[in-house]
Amino acid sequence: MKRISYQNPYTLMLYLVLVFILLVSCFGTYVSCSKYSNVSTTSSSLVTLCPPDQSTALQQFKGQFAFVKPNFTSYYYYCPHYENPYYDADVYESYPKMKFWKKEKDCCSWDGVTCNTKTGKVVALDLSNSWLQGPLRSNSSLFKLHALRRINLSYNNFSFSVIPSEFGQLFRLTHLDLSFSMFSGHIPSEISFLTHMFSLSLSSFLNYDATSLLHLGEVEFANLVQNMTNLRHLLLHQVNISSSIPKSLANLFSLTSLRLGGCSLHGKFPESLFQLHKLEVIDVPCNYHLTGILPEFQSSNSLREVTLDYTNFSGKLPNSIGKLNSLSRLAIRQCNFVRPLPSSICNLSQLTYLDLSLNHFTGHVLPSTLGNLAKLVVLLLYSSQFSGEVPSSLGNLTRLEDLRLRNNSFRGQIPASLGNLNRLKKLYLSSNNFSGQIPASFRNLTELTILRLIDNNLDGVIPSWLFTLPSLKILLLASNQFTGPLTVQNMSSFELQILHLNANKLDGRIPRWLGRSLEILNLQGNNFSGRIPHEIFTYGSMNNTMTLLDLSHNQFQGRVPQSLINCSKLQVLNLGHNQISDTFPFWLQSLPELQVLVLRSNKFFGPIWHPTKYLDFGNLVIMDLSVNHFTGSLPSKYFRNWGSMSEAPDRNNSDMEYFGQYENRSQYSFTYKYSMSMTNKGSEMLLIETLTIFKSIDLSNNRFDGEIPSSIGKLHSLVMLNLSSNNFTGSIPSSLGNLSELESLDLSKNKLSGRIPQQLADLTFLEYLNLSHNQLAGPIPQGTQLDTFSYSAFEGNPGLCGSQLSKKCENTVTPIPFLRKDEEEPENGFTWKVVVMGYACGFVVGVVIGHVILSRWYFYGL
Ligand SMILES: *[C@@H]1O[C@H](CO)[C@@H](O)[C@H](O)[C@H]1NC(C)=O
Ligand SMILES: *[C@@H]1O[C@H](CO)[C@@H](O)[C@H](O)[C@H]1NC(C)=O
Ligand SMILES: *[C@@H]1O[C@H](CO)[C@@H](O)[C@H](O)[C@H]1NC(C)=O
Ligand SMILES: *[C@@H]1O[C@H](CO)[C@@H](O)[C@H](O)[C@H]1NC(C)=O
Ligand SMILES: *[C@@H]1O[C@H](CO)[C@@H](O)[C@H](O)[C@H]1NC(C)=O
Ligand SMILES: *[C@@H]1O[C@H](CO)[C@@H](O)[C@H](O)[C@H]1NC(C)=O
Ligand SMILES: *[C@@H]1O[C@H](CO)[C@@H](O)[C@H](O)[C@H]1NC(C)=O
Repeated sequence: MKRISYQNPYTLMLYLVLVFILLVSCFGTYVSCSKYSNVSTTSSSLVTLCPPDQSTALQQFKGQFAFVKPNFTSYYYYCPHYENPYYDADVYESYPKMKFWKKEKDCCSWDGVTCNTKTGKVVALDLSNSWLQGPLRSNSSLFKLHALRRINLSYNNFSFSVIPSEFGQLFRLTHLDLSFSMFSGHIPSEISFLTHMFSLSLSSFLNYDATSLLHLGEVEFANLVQNMTNLRHLLLHQVNISSSIPKSLANLFSLTSLRLGGCSLHGKFPESLFQLHKLEVIDVPCNYHLTGILPEFQSSNSLREVTLDYTNFSGKLPNSIGKLNSLSRLAIRQCNFVRPLPSSICNLSQLTYLDLSLNHFTGHVLPSTLGNLAKLVVLLLYSSQFSGEVPSSLGNLTRLEDLRLRNNSFRGQIPASLGNLNRLKKLYLSSNNFSGQIPASFRNLTELTILRLIDNNLDGVIPSWLFTLPSLKILLLASNQFTGPLTVQNMSSFELQILHLNANKLDGRIPRWLGRSLEILNLQGNNFSGRIPHEIFTYGSMNNTMTLLDLSHNQFQGRVPQSLINCSKLQVLNLGHNQISDTFPFWLQSLPELQVLVLRSNKFFGPIWHPTKYLDFGNLVIMDLSVNHFTGSLPSKYFRNWGSMSEAPDRNNSDMEYFGQYENRSQYSFTYKYSMSMTNKGSEMLLIETLTIFKSIDLSNNRFDGEIPSSIGKLHSLVMLNLSSNNFTGSIPSSLGNLSELESLDLSKNKLSGRIPQQLADLTFLEYLNLSHNQLAGPIPQGTQLDTFSYSAFEGNPGLCGSQLSKKCENTVTPIPFLRKDEEEPENGFTWKVVVMGYACGFVVGVVIGHVILSRWYFYGL
């Protein structure tokens, strides 16, 4: 080729043209090659990296599973009632990676597969969130991939198979993640052979019964810690270890994160762990018997996260905690820490999350420097016995989204500076002694979704703008001293879903706009008067969202507005203790969800049965019509189609949507859960309210006559029946003996005659019985449950005789009844009452997957 001279402009031009042609042809080749490779990889121009044995092993591995999207939402996370920070299904991409593995293609290009660039051997396999379903067996071809260094199989469903001990043969492994993948049984001791391990994650969900799926023996745990000397990350959430933490863990000088939540650990947490210079994360919540104290800290410490929630750590927080200048999360909820709270905590300028709730900082007053923690997003100080005023410097925490100070002894005014917290979503100040009015600066809180101010000493009128804060969904102001009528500024922006104003001193008429979007409206125990406006049930297009309406203990008059029929989701209607004067609202029968109907203590009159108007109340679990002027008789078939009370209680159904509470008779109560989901700015919030009710019928103190309908015997799950103070005649229906759940039966002050049916002796749960002041005759069945009731249960029946009464029976041969075989045990031996107790003991609150324990209609203690 002729030598190109740069001096000659023509040759330069020629040169440029040549270069151009060369570039174009290269580019063309490139395009055609890659097109070609898409069609077939047999192109000889490609180097296949993946050796056949690796490819075969991977294909066999693929063949061992079905691909089904798992549903983890129903599984338990560590810590009951505790938001799980480790799994949020939306955060992770989830799709069946292996489905897209094409045989024809180089296995090193398969999704999730990484090969060594020289040998082609598979060194990393990432199949997390890949819909794998089926057991992982010990003969799995996975264990033929000896070059593997990293394996991630998290968030799959290995169908409760055991973790194969063959993992111990993959001795090159540095990263192993099998977390939340439905393995069960004992973690094999061979895992501790993996001495190169850098990151080990075997965290697990819990079983449905809140027991662990995975176990790790004490010895295996110690061996693991002993052998894995390079370990940086150890994650064993909800693996049942049931031992103390080996001291040798503090020899792992490289340890960076230690996550052992809900591992049933006990004993003392080794203090020396807090001194490990590289340790950034100590996350050991829900080890209820794990004790420990916080030692003095050095400024060389790297701790970023300390989570000790629900453990038995105790003592004081050391003053040197202020030296942890990397600390961004400190969570010590429900430990046994005591006062004082060192003010050095206010030096932790990196803190974003601080939870000191449920400790014993008795009488401690918050320092104003708390307002220095400018990065705080979450500040939870509830139920920790703090007192004094809330420092107004909290208004400096402008990044705060969640502030919970409930259930302490805070007093004084709610600081107006809180109005600066314009990112705040949740503000819980309930159960303190705040006084004064709701600060006007709250108008600034445009992100606020939940405001709880229950059980304080707040007064004044409820500011009208409060009802129309743009994001507010839940407004709980019960048990305060609020006065005056309700007004709203701009009703078109009223979007509230839950409004509790009960136990205040509000008066006037209730405004029509209240019906706009509400699902729960509780106005119990105020001085509201006038008619119930029919517009609240027809307002706008969203009028049928109401599920709970409690207007009881007010001064309402007039009739029950028929527009209520629009509330097709209504479950609870409580109009008790008002001045309502109306006939029985038969039309309520068309509300398909109605479960609780309380009309107690009003001026209702007329019959509650009508040959054409009466059908049934299929879903009712509480009917209280007592203390009214109802009249007439009930046909024997009256209760024939009352479905809900006829069913034996379904005590295993945790999604029960029953409601209610009654006066103070908790010993007869059941607890039901009511859950409701709300959409808030696109994210679903779940609110679960647990209420205490018992299935009951109270028709007492009216003017009913005729016989007690024998169909009452169909209401198998009835717990309380009160027909007292009426004019019922005839004999006591023997079918009452079928009410095997009955705990309270009051038939006193009627005109019942005949004998006491022997079948009443079958009511083994009966705790209260009153048959007094009737015209009953003959012997009281002896040698039975009825023996436990004294004179006053039977008095005022001149014809009655028995050992309880002064009149003894002449013929004492009373047959001792044997329990019928099928009634020896109550159906479903399930200890429902224990469950009730369990819930009643804890006041746990939260929205966005949380629980609200409701007691007596009020959110006490929130
Ligand atoms: C692996 O073992 C199971 C039984 O444990 C058996 O059904 C299966 O055929 C075996 N697979 C291979 C590839 O050997
Ligand atoms: C952990 O294991 C121990 C002993 O096997 C057992 O008593 C305990 O109930 C288990 N805990 C959980 C949460 O499964
Ligand atoms: C907290 O910071 C202040 C001022 O920066 C300093 O004087 C004090 O010693 C610090 N306290 C602790 C415990 O670090
Ligand atoms: C609450 O504060 C009021 C004054 O605002 C006071 O009279 C009352 O005793 C306080 N109650 C409690 C329980 O501290
Ligand atoms: C409302 O918030 C703004 C900042 O967004 C602040 O400047 C103003 O002072 C706040 N108003 C009140 C009354 O707190
Ligand atoms: C039954 O009702 C009457 C009248 O309303 C009442 O006095 C009595 O206490 C009630 N009985 C029970 C067991 O609650
Ligand atoms: C039974 O009812 C009568 C009248 O209602 C009442 O006086 C009496 O105290 C009641 N007995 C019991 C044990 O409650």
